[in-house]
Amino acid sequence: MAIKEQLLQIKEEAKVAIENTSSMHELNDVKATFLGKKSAFNDIMKSMKDLSKEERPIVGKETNLAKRDIQLWIDEKRQTLHDLEVKKQIEEETVDVTMPGKVFHVGTTHLLTQITDEIEDVFIGMGYEVMEGPEIEIDEYNFEKLNLPKNHPARDMQDTFYIDDTLLLRTHTSPVQVRTMLDKGGKEPVKIICPGKVYRRDEDDATHSHQFMQIEGLVVDKDTTMADLKGTLLMIAREMFGQDRDIRLRPSYFPFTEPSVEVDVSCHNCNGKGCHICKHTGWIEVLGAGMVHNNVLEASGYDSSIYQGFAFGVGVERIAMLKYKINDIRQFYTNDIRFNRQFK
Ligand code: PHE
Repeated sequence: MAIKEQLLQIKEEAKVAIENTSSMHELNDVKATFLGKKSAFNDIMKSMKDLSKEERPIVGKETNLAKRDIQLWIDEKRQTLHDLEVKKQIEEETVDVTMPGKVFHVGTTHLLTQITDEIEDVFIGMGYEVMEGPEIEIDEYNFEKLNLPKNHPARDMQDTFYIDDTLLLRTHTSPVQVRTMLDKGGKEPVKIICPGKVYRRDEDDATHSHQFMQIEGLVVDKDTTMADLKGTLLMIAREMFGQDRDIRLRPSYFPFTEPSVEVDVSCHNCNGKGCHICKHTGWIEVLGAGMVHNNVLEASGYDSSIYQGFAFGVGVERIAMLKYKINDIRQFYTNDIRFNRQFK
């Protein structure tokens, strides 16, 4: 076969082979076959030595032209394959914005946590520290150092889960105040709030729970007065129930404070006119408070002739129930998602 025809045939074969490829990989194989070291062109080059002087440059030129054409077709095909790949990728990654979406259920913080956080924020803003302590306490911190020696009748005010003679489930967060005062060694002023869970041996019903949340506050310094207490209480009342609220203090009794007061807030529902929420009195009792008893200061290392203090305690559930007109305390603990979701 004449070399010219041979070249034409190779070109034709290459053209078909290139057209038939469907991937870069196949295309590379075809390139190796037709333009590689062992290609038919090499055989032709080797046979050149048998040609005449005149024929040699012609055949050489024809061979190079054929190789160039093949290379061109390969380049074209490479571009085509590349374009196809990109198109395929775009199609695969396309998002159909008309498809119905997935709904992600995002949880919410529990209402009690929300109220605790709000109250904490207010006090942190006034320079208070937030202190926490253990829920299993020793009798000494929960009662004795709070002017409630063993067998004191006032222990009946807080029916207690005793674990043994010295251990119990704390009935209030006051032991955190004792711990803090002891830590400060009777020297530094104290300005803390203590949020947390507390326990009492109550039968659970709509208004009682054997476990509930409390926030107590304690300020001890050299010139702390009842006026400071009153101002602080008025501020919390307004933060919790709105800026129009008023408070009134009624004398009361707690073993750890003297004098002790019960704090009423003017009713946020009727503005003091009288409604079912305030039992038609215009006032709602929400806090217990007082000036820290000298015995309590002394028991935790503070000289009561130099230091005075005030303290207050509030039930978080009670605030939540009043604010959101919740009529059963058990709703906070049964984790009915429909209840929790209302307070997003
Ligand atoms: N510790 C009291 C209670 O749980 C609340 C309280 C705190 C009262 C501080 C007065 C002063 O009942």
